[in-house]
Amino acid sequence: MLIRRPPDIPSSEITPKRLYLRRRDMIAGLLAAGVLAAGPRTRATAAPLPAAKSPSSTDERQTTRADATSYNNFYEFGVNKDDPAKYANALTVAPWSVKIDGLVDKPATYTLEDVLKSAPLEERVYRLRCVEGWSMVIPWIGFPLAALLKSVGPQSGAKYVAFETLVRPDEMPGQKGFFQPLEWPYVEGLRLDEAMHPLTILAVGMYGETLPNQNGAPLRLVVPWKYGFKSIKSIVRISLTDKQPPTTWNIMAASEYGFFSNVNPEVDHPRWSQASERRIGEGSGIFTKRRPTLMFNGYAEQVAGLYSGLDLRANY
Ligand code: MTE
Repeated sequence: MLIRRPPDIPSSEITPKRLYLRRRDMIAGLLAAGVLAAGPRTRATAAPLPAAKSPSSTDERQTTRADATSYNNFYEFGVNKDDPAKYANALTVAPWSVKIDGLVDKPATYTLEDVLKSAPLEERVYRLRCVEGWSMVIPWIGFPLAALLKSVGPQSGAKYVAFETLVRPDEMPGQKGFFQPLEWPYVEGLRLDEAMHPLTILAVGMYGETLPNQNGAPLRLVVPWKYGFKSIKSIVRISLTDKQPPTTWNIMAASEYGFFSNVNPEVDHPRWSQASERRIGEGSGIFTKRRPTLMFNGYAEQVAGLYSGLDLRANY
């Protein structure tokens, strides 16, 4: 067995002391705010989450926090855009744990605190393009999913990563009652290379604070070059698999939503065009300004190589 002594560890793998201290302070702050808790289920209050801005951030004008937290898709709380903001405060998000299983060397149920230890937090300002034709620019706070995956040791047979959201009907009104809009749990998946891509993050905050419940507290995925529905909220399970996992919107309507779901202005949704989008906050009704949708949501330079040789029309 190879034991690496400090001089063998490349400097790129050593967390600078400045960031290490910040992470320790941050975990203490989150504990104080009830975001990380060991006791009975609690409703966390928003806690400040300072993080340095990553160079992969866009400098486009950011959507207001008010818009980003009141116009949401989170069907566990209802199908209307204002349902998540109305009902998600009932969700208790502390303590929180994530089961990581499947083709990994260290399968376990990890606490949120364990998950946060995988990398320092950064601010990433990303465009989010919803398949419905609107978009936002959101300053997320999170860390690369790759860091967490590396820490649990993906095995050589792992080819995909599957994600699952919480099922808790007593706190999620969209999961109980006669009308169930989706099958639960909400599930999503990525190819392993997509999951390991440096743009793919797990977010725990936005706008300098911990995530509001309606945006997927306490832990959600953000994959900026894919339609928003891939960015699964309130994650409780991550599984590495050798087979392409099922995904919620593909289960609901396979002819409308594929596994890849890369933003692509050249491939229309069967019921509407994907060529342009409405940036939330830029006018409404007849005054709505539309802007052209960019290939891979503007991240083509970084991600197009993942799909060389793949027919993006057949693999929508
Ligand atoms: N995750 C879960 N668990 N349930 C959902 O209904 N909606 C998706 C995605 N993640 C959804 C989800 C869709 S359709 C979009 S567009 C984004 O969350 C919206 O994220 P936001 O509300 O933070 O803007």
